Amino acid sequence: MSRCAAQKGALSANRCAWWRDGALATAARAGSDARPMARIMSGVQPTGNLHIGNYLGALVNWVRLQAEYDAFFSIVDLHALTQRPDPEALRRAVREVAIGVLASGVDPERATVFVQSHVPQHTELAWVLTCLTPLGDLNRMTQFKDKSQHQPDNVNTGLFTYPVLQTADIVLYRADRVPVGEDQEQHLELARETVRRFNHVYGETFPEPQVVKSNAPRVMGLDGESKMSKSRNNEIGLFETADETMQKLRGAKTDPARLRKTDKGTPEVCNIFSYHGFFTSESQRAEIAAGCRSAQLGCVDCKKMLCQNLEQVKGPIRERAAELRSKPAELDAILAHGASRARAEAEKTMEMVRSRVGLGVRA
Ligand code: TYM
Repeated sequence: MSRCAAQKGALSANRCAWWRDGALATAARAGSDARPMARIMSGVQPTGNLHIGNYLGALVNWVRLQAEYDAFFSIVDLHALTQRPDPEALRRAVREVAIGVLASGVDPERATVFVQSHVPQHTELAWVLTCLTPLGDLNRMTQFKDKSQHQPDNVNTGLFTYPVLQTADIVLYRADRVPVGEDQEQHLELARETVRRFNHVYGETFPEPQVVKSNAPRVMGLDGESKMSKSRNNEIGLFETADETMQKLRGAKTDPARLRKTDKGTPEVCNIFSYHGFFTSESQRAEIAAGCRSAQLGCVDCKKMLCQNLEQVKGPIRERAAELRSKPAELDAILAHGASRARAEAEKTMEMVRSRVGLGVRA
């Protein structure tokens, strides 16, 4: 007897954690009867090209976790609408970001890769959750404050309720874990709070999603002042060529106290040295640190070494991306397949949600 069925004596059928049955079914599909295959869900906005902050903060974990979890990864175009992008640019960005996700190593045969707007249940669930979310909770969101400052002429309601749609994205797939960078932690806290509220009001329905952080939860931008971000123009793009990257690195901040090549530097406070931490071998890092401290190695040479090491990662990604770009029908098929699987899972959740909140007929 399943755990859910066992609970039916104590709780009404309507209050059991039905999603565990779904998880068991997933495990059966995956050929394991020992342990339900837990779910992960994550998303990326199609606003400009992916950068190494996205790659290190999120995508590396997406690729790692797709082997262990039933994974749902979405290109969240509905979220991007909060910035009122040009329609054609948005359509292009959705494809480019999907290409970036796949070229980084997400395998569509393992993970469900889909475009958010292809699954209409996201907005339906977002409305249900909006009606459960106190205004005060959204008022506390620091990303809303940041974004409002960044686009003062377009402080729309979507920007304010953005974290509710994000919660819907996650709980629609009953996800247990969410691999994201540090900037999403507050949104995840709100998601957990919303899950607790929903479960309290309507009965145990969703698992509380936990954050999975990577080794690089907050990659700094080339300005060395704020996190790397598409909107701050301080990024190293994932598709950039080595020449393009070197051009940007030339102007990038280093140890602020090292004004001349003959000054001795402090690698620990140098933003460029922090990037070496992700792309450079330990032995070369030790060499660079010693050269910087003794002023034997100049910042330009240190940047050239970084550029070369970055290229070891970006080069193959760029090649895979070019190949995918040359086969648009293949990309369409991957996204159509992903949307179809995502819709099926989303509809299962919505049937339960509608029944629990009093919409339509009782399941
Ligand atoms: P977005 O598109 O800004 O970023 C996508 C992922 O990249 C991470 N990230 C970073 N990590 C480390 N250092 C950085 N400088 C850096 N910049 C970005 C982000 O933390 C994120 O994991 N609201 C989300 C998208 C979203 C989502 C979701 C995420 C919508 N629905 C559901 C998870 C689950 C966002 O704007 O990410």
